[in-house]
Formats: sequence, C-alpha cells, structure tokens
Amino acid sequence: MWRLDVLTTPDWVARVETRPVELLSDHAHCELRAAASAQALIVKYTEHAALVQRMSAVAREELLHFELVLDELAKRGGTLLPARANPYAEGLLAARAHRKEELLLDRLLVAALIEARSLERFHLLAEHLHDRELAAFYRGLVPSEAAHQALFVELAKEHYAAERVQERLAELRAAEARVLRALPFDHRMHSGELDPAPHARTGGAANVRP
Ligand SMILES: [Fe+2]
Ligand SMILES: [Fe+2]
Repeated sequence: MWRLDVLTTPDWVARVETRPVELLSDHAHCELRAAASAQALIVKYTEHAALVQRMSAVAREELLHFELVLDELAKRGGTLLPARANPYAEGLLAARAHRKEELLLDRLLVAALIEARSLERFHLLAEHLHDRELAAFYRGLVPSEAAHQALFVELAKEHYAAERVQERLAELRAAEARVLRALPFDHRMHSGELDPAPHARTGGAANVRP
C-alpha cells in the first residue's frame, strides 16, 4: 500500500458542488485526456505488447467513463464546456525526468498518481455530496479507477526494479503534493484545497494499492 503525501479537505466537496456542471464538464475532459494518454503510450511503446494491450483496454474504459459523465451532465442540464488549460497535469508532466531510460517509468507513475488523486476525490464526492445520485455515480467509478491506478504501478514494476519504482514514486508523490499545494481552489476535479493536517484523518480515501 502507498498513500498520497497530502489529502484533500472534505470542504472541497462543499465548494465544488455549488457548480456541478463545471465539475462534471472538467471531469469529462479528465476522462478524455486519460483515454488520450493511454493511446499515446501505445504509440510511443509499440514494442511492449502487454503494455499495448492493456493501454488499449484502459483507453476504451476511459472513453466509456467520458460518455457516462456526459450523461450525468445532460441530466443536470449541462453540456461539455470548452477545454481549459490543466495546470495540475502540466505541473506533473513537468516533474517527469528527462532521462530517456526512465521516461516510461515516469509516464506510468505520473498516470498512477493522477488516478490516485482522482480516486481520492471520487471517495470524497461519494461520501459528502448532497446530490446523492451523483454521489452514487462517483462511488460506481471507484473500482475501475482503482484498478487503473494499480495497473500503472504494476506495469512500472514489469519494466523497472521494484526498489527503483518505490523510490521514484516517493519523489513524484512529493512533486504531486507541491503542484497541488500551489493551485487555487476551482470548480474542477484537480483544484487546490488541501487538508492542513494531511494524515490526521484515517480511512481508505488516500490509501492506494501498489
Ligand atoms: Fe476514468
Ligand atoms: Fe482511469
């Protein structure tokens, strides 16, 4: 098991739920980007057959999630809003190493971290949203995103030594915390709003399986 270095305060849900259409539109774009990233890995690493196959499955699932989020948007009278810059993902991508031999490691671990943060927020939304139908929707997405998060770390361990994966994961976890700490609150899935006492709370929200 490993956990994110910083946790989101449950107050984030109270703030983000005031504009559900903005949150859902941003979430839809996240799913679309996740599908695109999985396809980008296929294009970049054609020689790794197992990775190609698994990333194709991930891309399909993420597109399915995209459609499910669009349905939730429509139910609430919303439609997909134009894509915005994504400072969270950009900050994480900037933290990737430039060493060619570890590029795949960092690509996989950054993907795992984005999944882990999304998962943490899905747990919070499932628990605290006043819109209980939307809460159930987020609870329903948890198993699939948890499996993706585990898959990215598993793939990293197929290509790199386990100790190196753990070491690099710790470094990138710290980078993820720095990126998120620097972000202001916004009605978006990966906006800033962190718990000042990160590990005071216990429970499964930030515990993620390697
Ligand atoms: Fe997804
Ligand atoms: Fe995912």
